[in-house]
Amino acid sequence: MFDMMLVRTLADGAFHSGEALGERYALSRAAVWNRVRALQQAGIPVHAVRGKGYRIPGGLDLLDAAVIQALLPPGHGLPGELQILAVTDSTNERAMEALRRGSGIGNVVFAEQQTAGRGRRGRAWVSPFAANIYMSLSREFSGGLAALDGLSLAVGVAVCDAIADLRLPGAGLKWPNDIVAGAQKLGGVLIEVSGEVSGTCGAVIGIGLNVDMSREQTAGIDQPWTDLRALGLPGGQRNRVAALLLGRVLSALDVFAQHGLGAFLERWRSLDAIRGMSVEVLLGADRITGISEGVDEGGRLVVMTDSGRQVFHGGEVSLRRSA
Ligand code: BTN
Repeated sequence: MFDMMLVRTLADGAFHSGEALGERYALSRAAVWNRVRALQQAGIPVHAVRGKGYRIPGGLDLLDAAVIQALLPPGHGLPGELQILAVTDSTNERAMEALRRGSGIGNVVFAEQQTAGRGRRGRAWVSPFAANIYMSLSREFSGGLAALDGLSLAVGVAVCDAIADLRLPGAGLKWPNDIVAGAQKLGGVLIEVSGEVSGTCGAVIGIGLNVDMSREQTAGIDQPWTDLRALGLPGGQRNRVAALLLGRVLSALDVFAQHGLGAFLERWRSLDAIRGMSVEVLLGADRITGISEGVDEGGRLVVMTDSGRQVFHGGEVSLRRSA
């Protein structure tokens, strides 16, 4: 059984004896041990030292809904509920489930850990406990699916703006919405839609942002990655990161709903990490190479190839080593 109360106690990084924990939670020492094992199985490094008890070396920087709300920049009233889950399959799935039930618009879901975190293009999103930000918001848009074109680019800008608020240099965007630092991935955006092709549709906007991951936690990641810690973020800042990110995304969604992608293009272009570089676009079975010329007014990627200029609406872009 995953015991979040026990996690909160151990989050201070100090030793807690099995006896003291047992008394505190009215459990036998064997039951305490079983719960510690469940935490270890979830990847939380709880150490047991004979004669001293249990501890999580270095402690944990847990999310706290009240702290996030207090740190939200002024003018960003939450449109719905803010929920922090300890462990869930995917915050996008939780938000989507609420949409399917006909509720949840305006809600925000964070999780400390995702067991089936989803990335773009069917990839898994590695989501270790209390290490990063995993956040999903639900929002309604009128104008059908077409009105959502470009939304993921706008959200990518909002994520970079939040990183700039933290005074961390070096974050940029790789089309369409990878948040990168150099050639390493720092975060990503996954938007899933439910509803009408025309008319009102509900969108779940999911954001993963790497904050502070240890090497052991990253075994499943199949691409170069980095985190905010490596960019210079001090420890103990996850709630601040969460609040700044949420504030930036909420206001970007309002601006997008009113003005569309046009309001974000200049900023997107200033953050473009691959413009002028030699790229390969993977589109189904096709690989197209050329020089990236950035995005057009519709947010599509423009690439100068040997056979002329091509515009991509979808596809996976990677950098080629030689220009
Ligand atoms: C990408 O592949 O670049 C997109 C990654 C999106 C990950 C986030 S984490 C919160 C939300 N829940 C998910 O299952 N996925 C998104």
